[in-house]
Amino acid sequence: MIDCPTIRKRSIRFHYDLVTPFYRLFWGRHLHHGLWNGDETPRQAQQQLTDALAGEAVRVGDRLLDVGCGMGGSSIHLARELGCCVTGITLSSVQQRWATGAAWLGRANRRADFLCADIESLDLPTSSFDVIWSIECTEHLFDKPAFFQKAADWLRPGGRVAICAWLAGNTDSAENVQLVKKVCEAFLCPSLGSMADYQSWMQDAGLCLKVCHDWTDRVARTWEICQQRVERSRVRSVASWFGKETADFLDHFSTILRAYRSGAMRYGALVFEKPPVVKDSITSPEETDCVTLATRLR
Ligand SMILES: C[S@@+](CC[C@H](N)C(=O)[O-])C[C@H]1O[C@@H](n2cnc3c(N)ncnc32)[C@H](O)[C@@H]1O
Repeated sequence: MIDCPTIRKRSIRFHYDLVTPFYRLFWGRHLHHGLWNGDETPRQAQQQLTDALAGEAVRVGDRLLDVGCGMGGSSIHLARELGCCVTGITLSSVQQRWATGAAWLGRANRRADFLCADIESLDLPTSSFDVIWSIECTEHLFDKPAFFQKAADWLRPGGRVAICAWLAGNTDSAENVQLVKKVCEAFLCPSLGSMADYQSWMQDAGLCLKVCHDWTDRVARTWEICQQRVERSRVRSVASWFGKETADFLDHFSTILRAYRSGAMRYGALVFEKPPVVKDSITSPEETDCVTLATRLR
């Protein structure tokens, strides 16, 4: 794992509060990479990434916790298309309001609910979800092993953790370590774990690996497109009004591309399962009504 001890949680919250409207304008409703097979549009590629992960881990009607839900892109899609009962958690109050409005507009508000909270200090009931879903949020967590211990407890037996994450790759050289550290600083990641780190954290939490994809080559185009869009717009001068961290973020799109191309960073999709127990004692999602967790906690 590569650590970056200078990152503060308040900076992560501030970043997402501030830049969410810009993300929406320049990228789309999902705040994650696109997954390309050919010459799809960025919007199609973003949706493909969500669908590819869902195809590996989500079933119709699942109770799902979306950790780091952004503007609710995945939550709303899974609620609408698969009838999932979704609770989305985000550190950003701007995103929570945005996602709530988007769910209402998308007529998914009865199946998708959003809370503004820090997942690292949240306690949720044991066995309350079929799926813990997290796209590109675990990079921002300060104690990743502790999060996966809690996630394993929140899952019902037989439930799944599905994540996409930026990963530390080949960090044998000092140059590659520096590259990953630069990415961590610019993109506010207190650490980046490797594929092997994630596997051992999950194993320690009692979860079994089911799916493991390295999608680096299929997602890297994201940053070429973002770089072009930033260069063609005036967003860089606007960003500098909001301080160094925000401007740094835009200036480091090329750093992340270099990190992918050199192998210093990888992009992974992982699905883990909590072992099922004997049939009699399974806490199964028998409830037919969708009472999202956010509703229950209010
Ligand atoms: C790159 S965005 C991904 C958003 C969303 N998963 C998507 O794919 O569109 C990272 C998300 O993680 C959230 N996040 C970061 N740290 C968090 C924490 N400690 N608790 C809850 N959410 C967090 C941010 O608020 C943001 O919504």
